[in-house]
Amino acid sequence: MSFITSLSVFSLHLLLLLVGFFLNPVISDPRGETVAQMCNNRTMTPQQRSLVVTNFLAAMDAVSPLLEAKGYGQVVNGTGNLTVYAYGECMKDLDKKDCDLCFAQIKAKVPRCLPFQQITRGGRVFSDGCYVRYDEYNFFNETLSSQDLTNCSDKEITGVNRTLFRDNAEELVKFMSVEAVRNGGFYAGIVDRHNVTAHGLAQCWEPLTRGGCAECLTNASEQIGSCLGKEEGRALNAGCYMRFSTQKFYNNSGNSTSDGSGGHNHLVVILTVTCSVVAFVLLVCAVCFLYTKKRAKKQRENKQLGSLLMLANKSNLCFSYENLEKATDYFSDKNKLGQGGSGSVFKGVLRNGKTIAVKRLFFNTKQWVDHFFNEVNLISQIDHKNLVKLLGCSITGPESLLVYEYIANKSLHDYLFERRDVPPLDWGKRFKILLGTAEGMAYLHEESNLRIIHRDIKLSNILLEHDFTPRIADFGLARMFPGDKTHISTAIAGTRGYMAPEYVVRGKLTEKADVYSFGVLMIEVITRKRNNAFSQDASSIIQTVWSLYGTSNLVQIVDPVLGDKFNKMEASRLLEIGLLCVQAAFEQRPAMSAVVKMMRGNMEIPTPTQPPFLNPESVLEVRKMMSPTDSPMEDQSQSSGWRIDNISESFFEPR
Ligand SMILES: *[C@@H]1O[C@H](CO)[C@@H](O)[C@H](O)[C@H]1NC(C)=O
Ligand SMILES: *[C@@H]1O[C@H](CO)[C@@H](O)[C@H](O)[C@H]1NC(C)=O
Ligand SMILES: *[C@@H]1O[C@H](CO)[C@@H](O)[C@H](O)[C@H]1NC(C)=O
Ligand SMILES: *[C@@H]1O[C@H](CO)[C@@H](O)[C@H](O)[C@H]1NC(C)=O
Ligand SMILES: *[C@@H]1O[C@H](CO)[C@@H](O)[C@H](O)[C@H]1NC(C)=O
Ligand SMILES: *[C@@H]1O[C@H](CO)[C@@H](O)[C@H](O)[C@H]1NC(C)=O
Ligand SMILES: *[C@@H]1O[C@H](CO)[C@@H](O)[C@H](O)[C@H]1NC(C)=O
Ligand SMILES: *[C@@H]1O[C@H](CO)[C@@H](O)[C@H](O)[C@H]1NC(C)=O
Ligand SMILES: *[C@@H]1O[C@H](CO)[C@@H](O)[C@H](O)[C@H]1NC(C)=O
Ligand SMILES: *[C@@H]1O[C@H](CO)[C@@H](O)[C@H](O)[C@H]1NC(C)=O
Repeated sequence: MSFITSLSVFSLHLLLLLVGFFLNPVISDPRGETVAQMCNNRTMTPQQRSLVVTNFLAAMDAVSPLLEAKGYGQVVNGTGNLTVYAYGECMKDLDKKDCDLCFAQIKAKVPRCLPFQQITRGGRVFSDGCYVRYDEYNFFNETLSSQDLTNCSDKEITGVNRTLFRDNAEELVKFMSVEAVRNGGFYAGIVDRHNVTAHGLAQCWEPLTRGGCAECLTNASEQIGSCLGKEEGRALNAGCYMRFSTQKFYNNSGNSTSDGSGGHNHLVVILTVTCSVVAFVLLVCAVCFLYTKKRAKKQRENKQLGSLLMLANKSNLCFSYENLEKATDYFSDKNKLGQGGSGSVFKGVLRNGKTIAVKRLFFNTKQWVDHFFNEVNLISQIDHKNLVKLLGCSITGPESLLVYEYIANKSLHDYLFERRDVPPLDWGKRFKILLGTAEGMAYLHEESNLRIIHRDIKLSNILLEHDFTPRIADFGLARMFPGDKTHISTAIAGTRGYMAPEYVVRGKLTEKADVYSFGVLMIEVITRKRNNAFSQDASSIIQTVWSLYGTSNLVQIVDPVLGDKFNKMEASRLLEIGLLCVQAAFEQRPAMSAVVKMMRGNMEIPTPTQPPFLNPESVLEVRKMMSPTDSPMEDQSQSSGWRIDNISESFFEPR
């Protein structure tokens, strides 16, 4: 009888523990959701910008492996006033895998501090699982700063006695600010009195001294006092993080007996006794459970990998990281072809002698490996004489790589503006390039059945072959991360002068935004002048062409280097088509297939309406209001709506 009783008590506990184990919401939660983002407002010049971005990316890349090894990482990259200091740390209760995931998540958010056009010299992102910061000075042991925040939940306490929870939380917060300092800078635990539990976690960043940690947490515990009475509160300081909550949000499974103070000791005793009885069985169960789980996971992974590999073998899309490393001579600088919004591009030669271009992506694709691979698979099927073919990718190495065919002759931008060693492009070549580009875009938009919006049509994305056949580079990248609105390519991409006004202002992205960019490109190629829509003087080349439209003098704007060796009818037709493409009203811009027809003379050219007039002051205003937290590249309607709509009127000031 007593045996049966103890057995049933025993099973009950076992059941409860296992249920707790299964229901425990913190199991494998990287807690990567952003809680707060702070960007400072020190900006730099466009000249410094690209250099700092390079250092920033190098520093961020270097933080990740450190974080993996030690749970935190501090990196300095660059020299002089271009130096970037970067820091990342995970909460000490996260395991390695969750730490990785968490950091990947918030790392993708920091570039939001790099708004388009301008760059701020510092920013931080707090999530509940990890922290990242970069700045222009050595902040590693900074304890408090003027940007520190207290974030209180707006939910009043429900379900438990408010007064009691408040008291418990208050005690917990005080306790944590002392205990964490004693405990090497970290504490996670509860205060549980009168059947009401407050959960909390406090952590100082690793570089802080003991004194710095105490100073930071003392301030945090006082700041967080304003949240008592709410369900949850957080103090987000330069040197530390503190949070309390009605819910358990941390993982202390490694230390389940330490999470307490106050009156739940009897519970601990019961648990300890029970545990000593069930320890053995539990151990066996846990081992069994973990083993099965692990095996199931492994099987799943194998299965996934298997189908990926099969797909890869079938399509020859997979390149090994090592081979690509060797092909590019370990990504040596002498093989670097350029740097785009989403990654640097290197020239490489495969063992079979084939020359390729390898793009090293800035953003982390580990979380989306199969999605990424599927996209590569789809996009690699796109084959058109005016598009740079994507040959495959590498997803197995430490970073993701895309492999493209190599186009020998550099970009249209180099041809028009950089190279002095080549004769200027004659009219015939310019026409051929523009027509081919239009055909490639028509294919992307209308014929490819993937409906790809390029998003970054510009001179440097048009590559030229020996016979001046244009090839559009870098399409489809934006498509690969539809749900991820923050990856670095969108944060930095979108080249000034080419962006359609509705895209800049409202984030409205359709094919017509590409058509706008094409119009700008067309006018640039014909006039060999850059369009500086955002420059201080408002006399953009588009405005100049528009003001000449309707006069008999439209072709006077054509690149003077051509002399009179060009077809005047054709030039004036193309300029008109260019104006059609850059009309302010995006519905009125023609589809790319229509552009092709008009260029070939197979379709009448309608009368263009006026292009957007970009008033430089309102543009500056828009930029200020969008930065730092609202990236204009971020689609869409739901974000940052009202502020931008309010000023869009003045943005398009009538002439
Ligand atoms: C506080 O955090 C929540 C997310 O947990 C966020 O939505 C809110 O904007 C934050 N408030 C402040 C003032 O940062
Ligand atoms: C920059 O921020 C500081 C406080 O963080 C503020 O005093 C200053 O006015 C800001 N400057 C600009 C140009 O917004
Ligand atoms: C910055 O990062 C680059 C690229 O990883 C590296 O080559 C360089 O040595 C770093 N510079 C410093 C000062 O650490
Ligand atoms: C950065 O340093 C360079 C040379 O050391 C100097 O020309 C430039 O003005 C500095 N820029 C700023 C913003 O301090
Ligand atoms: C912080 O670090 C800097 C540079 O490493 C050092 O000069 C300074 O004394 C440190 N401050 C504190 C409070 O530890
Ligand atoms: C909460 O607890 C306090 C102290 O035990 C008690 O006085 C109060 O009536 C309780 N309030 C509610 C709403 O239960
Ligand atoms: C805590 O709850 C138990 C049952 O749920 C009850 O027996 C006990 O009296 C409660 N203790 C306090 C201090 O409210
Ligand atoms: C905590 O730090 C903030 C920011 O520096 C400061 O405004 C506040 O006065 C500090 N509070 C205490 C109690 O030191
Ligand atoms: C929880 O913490 C324990 C001990 O620190 C660790 O072994 C375990 O992997 C952690 N689990 C998660 C999901 O973070
Ligand atoms: C577990 O708790 C004990 C007692 O509070 C503490 O000394 C120990 O450092 C804790 N261990 C971990 C891994 O947090």
